[in-house]
Amino acid sequence: MNYKTITCTIAAIFTFVSLASCGQSKTGTESGKEPAATTGKKALVCYFSATGTTADAAKRVAELTGGTLHEITPEKPYSDADLDWRDSLSRSYVEMHDFSIRPAVTDSLPDLSGYDVICLGYPNWWNTCPTVINTFIEKNQDKLKGKTILPFMTSGGGDIEQSIADLRKNYPELTFGAGLLMNDATDTQITDWINSK
Ligand SMILES: Cc1cc2nc3c(=O)[nH]c(=O)nc-3n(C[C@H](O)[C@H](O)[C@H](O)COP(=O)(O)O)c2cc1C
Repeated sequence: MNYKTITCTIAAIFTFVSLASCGQSKTGTESGKEPAATTGKKALVCYFSATGTTADAAKRVAELTGGTLHEITPEKPYSDADLDWRDSLSRSYVEMHDFSIRPAVTDSLPDLSGYDVICLGYPNWWNTCPTVINTFIEKNQDKLKGKTILPFMTSGGGDIEQSIADLRKNYPELTFGAGLLMNDATDTQITDWINSK
């Protein structure tokens, strides 16, 4: 190999490595956004989502806060027929019209001592939170005592206020802070909300 060939080979390798690293995120997050740091609070982002919208919102909260996701998982997933709110015989209709029903959940909440704040996300069902949230809270009541729980919601247009009033009334021994409707929430609204604790 002469000098010219060696120089060309080195230049080609350098160009390839530079191009290959071009599309990679420096932070290691999916979107390439800088994680955490925006709030300085360690958040556990618990959520239930039947069709994915609240899951996306939860991922956004976790990404903006550097928080950890925890999915609240019903033992029996909700089918499309289960979610037909116009059908008074559908599973969701029946569950939401008999407050004694507690759909089983299978997830286990980790130790909460390392978290400053617990975010709790759910879809709006009949203007409140799905009863699977009640199951989750009652199963983990001892762990949740003494923590600040910040509710967030996605909806078809309804607001979060009634669900927060219901949570405070049903669980007076727990601390529910400000809530956030995530439908059109900006990044600043999300970080301000976490910092409201
Ligand atoms: C059974 C059921 C009841 C609902 N009730 C309401 C309601 O009372 N008010 C509202 O604004 N949206 C209502 N919605 C719409 C959901 O809140 C909305 O689509 C939500 O973003 C779905 O979140 P998910 O994809 O995480 O399950 C209802 C949806 C279902 C399936």
